[in-house]
Amino acid sequence: MKTGIINFSYQAFNSAAELPVHYRTLLEKARAATVNAYAPYSLFFVGAAAMFENGETITATNQENASSPVGICAERVLLSAASSVYPGTGITTIAISYSNQKTGWSRQPVFPCGICRQSLLEQQIRQNTPIQLVLGGLEGQVFVINNAADLLPFAFTGKDME
Ligand code: THU
Repeated sequence: MKTGIINFSYQAFNSAAELPVHYRTLLEKARAATVNAYAPYSLFFVGAAAMFENGETITATNQENASSPVGICAERVLLSAASSVYPGTGITTIAISYSNQKTGWSRQPVFPCGICRQSLLEQQIRQNTPIQLVLGGLEGQVFVINNAADLLPFAFTGKDME
């Protein structure tokens, strides 16, 4: 018997002001995008922004539906837009922010849901370069995760079907 341990390192910043400027700029875009979310049911407005290797950026938001499973998280709207607008262009960084209109609280990072982690990993494998994640609310602490795969240990991938 052997005990395995999985760990990974990430960076925690006290606020966006401490971030390197390229991360801060992208997080600001994600924060600004939250107002475009369509979230009348949860009142949880998520904004995401992608930086591409060619220097371009795009933003996206969550899009809910009266039939709740039909709704899509901001991250997956972003990834669909990314490969539609800049096909074949790698994403270097994705920033994610949110505005909780129910509680007004937006001082801690939130992390991508399980389905979005799987989608992020698919994109990372597809482009064969790491995607960094910058996670923060409208204020407060910001986490930087260096590799999207870190959020999904023991992932199921295309390799498993070869
Ligand atoms: N949501 C996202 O857009 N991204 C996440 O990572 C977590 C949750 C959305 C889905 C739904 O519209 C709302 O937030 C509440 O779950």
